[in-house]
Amino acid sequence: MRNLNHVKVDNAEKGAELTYNIIKEELESGRLHVLGLATGSTMVPVYKELTKSNLDFTNVVTFNLDEYVGVTATSPNSYAYFMVEHLFSKKKFKETHIPNGMAENLDEECAMYEMFLEKNPLDIQLLGVGENGHIAFNEPGTSSDSVTHEAYLTESTLGVNSQYFENDDKIPETALTMGISSIMGAKKLILLAFGEKKRPAINKLLEGNVLADWPITELLKHDDLIVITDLEI
Ligand code: GLP
Repeated sequence: MRNLNHVKVDNAEKGAELTYNIIKEELESGRLHVLGLATGSTMVPVYKELTKSNLDFTNVVTFNLDEYVGVTATSPNSYAYFMVEHLFSKKKFKETHIPNGMAENLDEECAMYEMFLEKNPLDIQLLGVGENGHIAFNEPGTSSDSVTHEAYLTESTLGVNSQYFENDDKIPETALTMGISSIMGAKKLILLAFGEKKRPAINKLLEGNVLADWPITELLKHDDLIVITDLEI
């Protein structure tokens, strides 16, 4: 755990402020050209900080981690919709990329997404974590070599994430997601985890062993990982 930089904050808002400050510093020192974004409730306060700031992202390209398969960008259940609502409608970026879960050929879509990523190496990747330790939609057992792919969601993820689904829509069984290797390609990783439900995953990370059943632990192999959490360690 040589390089695991762990910061305990009082709450998600404080964690968002810290994340904002890191992004600001990287942006203002000319090191932020490509920003990896995430979705989920954890990211809402982070995007609030970014949107209320006067930071200029017009030269920054973004890549989102994942998207449900078969959900249109205009559906409030899509991650594309979440991003417009919380960030893209309020801040202008050079380009924004989200995997297209409506693509006719999903394999091609994944290959193309990975190619774009290779051409635009991530400077920072924001990450949340699932209760079962998933990162993006890389569920337990996902290979560390994985690149952008279609992933089956586990029962645990389907259960947790279905509560956010509106209009009685059924949560899809699959999603397109950056792989573990795509994520590990980012220069800097910022992982945010708040609340007791994230404790098992954070405990596994802090134990310091890479375990196939806990994708979060793959991040231990990264040499610039910052973990921001309100959990007492
Ligand atoms: C989804 C996303 C993950 C995210 C997780 C946690 O499953 N695919 O990228 O980390 O939700 O969400 P929340 O922040 O709402 O706890």
